[in-house]
Amino acid sequence: MPIILPMDTHAMDLPEPRTGELEAAPDAHSAGRQQRFDRKMEDDRKIEPQDWMPDAYRKTLVRQISQHAHSEIIGMQPEGNWISRAPSLKRKAILLAKVQDEGGHGLYLYSAAETLGVSRDALLDALHSGKAKYSSIFNYPTPTWSDVGVIGWLVDGAAIMNQVPICRCSYGPYARAMIRICKEESFHQRQGFESLMTQMRGTAAQREMVQDAVNRWYWPVLAMFGPPDADSPNSAQGMRWGIKRISNDDLRQKFVDATVPQAKILGVNLPDADLKWNEQRQHYDYGAIDWDDFWAVVNGQGPCNKERLATRVKAHADGQWVRDAALAHARKQQARQLKEAA
Ligand code: 3HC
Repeated sequence: MPIILPMDTHAMDLPEPRTGELEAAPDAHSAGRQQRFDRKMEDDRKIEPQDWMPDAYRKTLVRQISQHAHSEIIGMQPEGNWISRAPSLKRKAILLAKVQDEGGHGLYLYSAAETLGVSRDALLDALHSGKAKYSSIFNYPTPTWSDVGVIGWLVDGAAIMNQVPICRCSYGPYARAMIRICKEESFHQRQGFESLMTQMRGTAAQREMVQDAVNRWYWPVLAMFGPPDADSPNSAQGMRWGIKRISNDDLRQKFVDATVPQAKILGVNLPDADLKWNEQRQHYDYGAIDWDDFWAVVNGQGPCNKERLATRVKAHADGQWVRDAALAHARKQQARQLKEAA
C-alpha cells in the first residue's frame, strides 16, 4: 500500500482564503459540480486537492506536473557531471547548491502531483520504464565547463520564462510550488551569466569555449518551449483551464527578445543568421527550428537519452537501502507513539 505523506511544505504556504473564495456548500440551487468548477475557472480562482475536478483536468495536471518533476531530477545529471571538476572552490559550492536545488524542485513537484491521487512510485516507474516524458533539453552532453554556465544562462533562463506564468496556474499546489522554484531558478540563471562573463573576460581560448557552448545549446533551448502552437495538442485546453497562461510560441518569442541584449552584453553571437529586429512587430524575427530533431530527442533518440535514463535507474536502485531505512525508522517511531498512547 502506498504511504501517503502529509504535504507539509505546501500546507504551510496555503494563503488565507479571501471572502467569497470558500467553496459554497452544495445546496438545492447549486448548478452541480461541473458548473461550480467552471465558475471557478471563469473567476480565475484556485482549485485545491479537496475540490471536485473533472477527470481530464486531473489527468492533464498529473501529466504536466510529473513531466516537470522528471525534468528537474534528470536535469541534475548534465551539470552534476561537473561537480568534481569545477575550476574553483567557489564554483564547486555554487554548482553543488544548484544541483541540489533541482533535486528539491523535483520533490516539491512530485508532492504536488501526489495531491492529485497518484503515487510517487507509479510516477517514478513511468519515468524509469521510459514511458514518461521529461524535457528534451537534458539529453545533450556537457563536454566543457562553459556548458555549465550556458545551462544556467539559457536553460534556466528559458525555464523561468516558462515557469513564472505557472505561478498563476489554476491548481493551487502546483502554483505554490512554482513560486519557490522560480525564485531559485532566477539565482541559477544569474550565476550562469556571471560564470560566463568571467570566462569572457579571460583568454581567447575561454571565449571560444563559451561561444562553442552557446552554438550547441541555443537551438535546443528554443525547442524546449515545445512545438509551435499550431502543432501543440495540449495547449488550447491547458489555456482554457488556466494551467498554461502563455502559449509555447509566445514564450519562445519573449525568450528570444530577452536573450538578444544579454548576448550582446556577454559578447557572444547567437547562431542564427535570420535573427533580426522587426520594427513592425516590435520583436526579433528568428530562424526555423529543426522540429524533426526535437521529436527525435523527445522520442528517445537524442545524444544522451539512454545514458540519462540508465543513470537515473541505477541511482534509484542504489538508494533503495535509504528508503528502506527511512520506512523502518518511521514504523518504529509510530509503534513507539502507539505504545505510549495506550
Ligand atoms: N521536451 C519533451 N517533451 C516535450 C517538450 C520538451 N521540451 N515540449 C513539449 N513536449 C511534449 C509534451 O509533453 C506533449 O507530450 P504528451 O502529450 O505526450 O504529454 C507533447 O510534446 C506536445 O506538446 P504540447 O505543447 O501539447 O504540451 P504541453 O501543453 O504540456 O506543453 C510544456 C509543454 C510547455 C513543456 C508544458 O508541459 C509545461 O509548461 N510544463 C511545465 C514546465 C516544464 O516541465 N519544464 C521542463 C523543463 S524543467 C527545467 O528546465 C528544470 C530547470 O531546472 C532548468
